Amino acid sequence: MSEQNNSVADAALAALKALQKEIQETVLDTRESVDEYRIRFLSRKQGQVTALLKRIPEVAAEHRKQFGQEINAAKSLVESRIEQASSSFSGDATSGPELDFTLPGREVAEGSLHPITHALRLITKVFESYGFAVAEGPEAEDDWHNFSALNFPPDHPARDMQDTFFIEPPESDHGGILLRTHTSGVQIRVMENQKPPIRVIAPGRVYRNEAISYKSYCLFHQVEGLYVDEGVTMADLKQIIHAFARTLFGEDVKMRFRPSFFPFTEPSAEVDIWWKDDALPDGGRWMEIMGCGMVDPNVLEGVGIDSEKYTGYAFGMGIERIAMLRYGIDDIRILYENDIRFLEQFS
Ligand code: PHE
Repeated sequence: MSEQNNSVADAALAALKALQKEIQETVLDTRESVDEYRIRFLSRKQGQVTALLKRIPEVAAEHRKQFGQEINAAKSLVESRIEQASSSFSGDATSGPELDFTLPGREVAEGSLHPITHALRLITKVFESYGFAVAEGPEAEDDWHNFSALNFPPDHPARDMQDTFFIEPPESDHGGILLRTHTSGVQIRVMENQKPPIRVIAPGRVYRNEAISYKSYCLFHQVEGLYVDEGVTMADLKQIIHAFARTLFGEDVKMRFRPSFFPFTEPSAEVDIWWKDDALPDGGRWMEIMGCGMVDPNVLEGVGIDSEKYTGYAFGMGIERIAMLRYGIDDIRILYENDIRFLEQFS
């Protein structure tokens, strides 16, 4: 029995000797080799030093102490070699010494704002500086806010001016739910909830079921403007639009008000600016940038505002149109293609 015990102990000792040699001689020159080394000797499940520690009871009592001490010394050696090797790699988290620190860094790609966002922010900033607050309304709108409250009679052909995407058909409750065809419905929402003086702009996305071409798309953006107070006149409207155009297109901008029609404004006008282009025979051409007018008294009365006491003006402009003029873009569709080569030009 004791004879057998001795030979088991010898085997354990021999294993320890072999291990000590390995621990001493294994080359640790990469992070991977250090990781492997740690697992090979110290891991709780498969580590060879750990395994030897478990064999201590096999060793004869008189050798046990020394055996234990030698294993612990081996373990310390593993630990100190790991620490030493690791510190020589520190500061480099990815790989071993083959890394070339002189290589130039990788450029971090930087995003850019979409030209529509650029134009929208600019327009908003200008009107905020005139004291306008920003209001918002839903893109899925009901008939009342998009048409009826804006003085479009039920079967008036004016409703055909705008081809509409319906979500619920006109025959259903509320006269249908639709994708708003303009931001003018926000005027109604604001006046329903606020008493004059009112001075807001309402930027947002609008939808029209139109043939797609270089100048029209099925969705686009508008900025609505509304000012209601005592004694507001057409002269105030012209003044603010002129100031706006000067800020956006330069002090010498040439613009004109052209009589027009909208059911919710009376009188109504469209605003054109002169777009210089030497390639054209006249050296340029008139470009429409917005519709506007004095809020129709019917609209004010419909939302409970006394039209004897208060008057107001409203305007609505297409943001794409303004972005295209400012940035020299000649096809609206490119604004919706998300072509990185195009978008990168606006960073
Ligand atoms: N809502 C009109 C359109 O989309 C523009 C407009 C707004 C006209 C406000 C007058 C007043 O064409």
